[in-house]
Amino acid sequence: MEFTGSHILSIGQFQRADIERVFQVADSMEPYAQRRRVTRVLEGAILGNMFFEPSTRTRVSFGCAFNLLGGEVRETTGFETSAIAKGESLYDTARVLSGYSDVICMRHPASGSVSEFAQASRVPVINGGDGPNEHPTQALLDLYTIRQELSGLNKGIDGLRIAMIGDLKHGRTVHSLCKLLTLFKDIHLTLVAPKELGMPEYILDELRTAGHQVIHSSDMSQGIGNVDIAYSTRIQEERFVSKEEADHYRGRFRLNQAIYTQFCQPNTVIMHPLPRDSRADANELDNDLNQHPNLAIFRQTDNGILIRMALFALVLNVVDQVESCSRAVNWHSGNR
Ligand code: NCD
Repeated sequence: MEFTGSHILSIGQFQRADIERVFQVADSMEPYAQRRRVTRVLEGAILGNMFFEPSTRTRVSFGCAFNLLGGEVRETTGFETSAIAKGESLYDTARVLSGYSDVICMRHPASGSVSEFAQASRVPVINGGDGPNEHPTQALLDLYTIRQELSGLNKGIDGLRIAMIGDLKHGRTVHSLCKLLTLFKDIHLTLVAPKELGMPEYILDELRTAGHQVIHSSDMSQGIGNVDIAYSTRIQEERFVSKEEADHYRGRFRLNQAIYTQFCQPNTVIMHPLPRDSRADANELDNDLNQHPNLAIFRQTDNGILIRMALFALVLNVVDQVESCSRAVNWHSGNR
């Protein structure tokens, strides 16, 4: 794909070579993410960071990634502080804000909304999550993490065995990750979910067309028994009609130290897009795994910076200038 000037809206835009390109550029961002060097390559550029749904790591890591490339960030968070609350359309908002920014990241509760916004935007738009639909940058950072975790075990992504656990119906991270895995070969997926919260049929179709093996299970202990990756997810309470309906599913699949030790193979890597719901009635991924070496959740969040820096550098066509605009840092903020 041509990255320069492109919107990043769906994983469906990417070919396997494009993923390799993103990962290669992400690798080259390490000195800046680790604060060994600073680059000013995006000096003067402005990111419009528009988040109309709760977000911590996606919003902040998009902002930090842009700052780390030398650019500035303007944020809009929540409908109540935006003119959308006065009835303004996505079209008008996009026309206006794209005049103020060089690139826009957007999260919105409605499926397809970020694409609609992008059609009216005069600058590239990156999807930070559109309702239950997609979350392409999360899938990229998840796959980057999977690749990194498995490389230590001399395994690649082809042939991967992964269990996805939880609310697979509403979870946009697993939707995008499944789509991304269709670009690879011989993937074994075990989908662990209550029947009503299963993976949408159109995604199952894409997985089957790719020739992947898909097993459905409502028994987590079985599902996590023979996998490289156990990918846990939160019940997406905000997508249910009522809190009571979400309560019905909360706490069904809990991964903790005892369950991991009893049912997982010793090398199984534990992932979660975060936030994990740490309230007692949910707790899908227990704190007692925090020190476990196979818990990759905070390596995922660190990798989010590299992937988002790479996407900005590619979309704004500055990959070749990052290094020439750089110097060593003046400060030392501890061991990263
Ligand atoms: C996820 C999201 O917002 O889709 N979080 C994230 O971006 N890392 C997952 C979730 O909210 O459960």
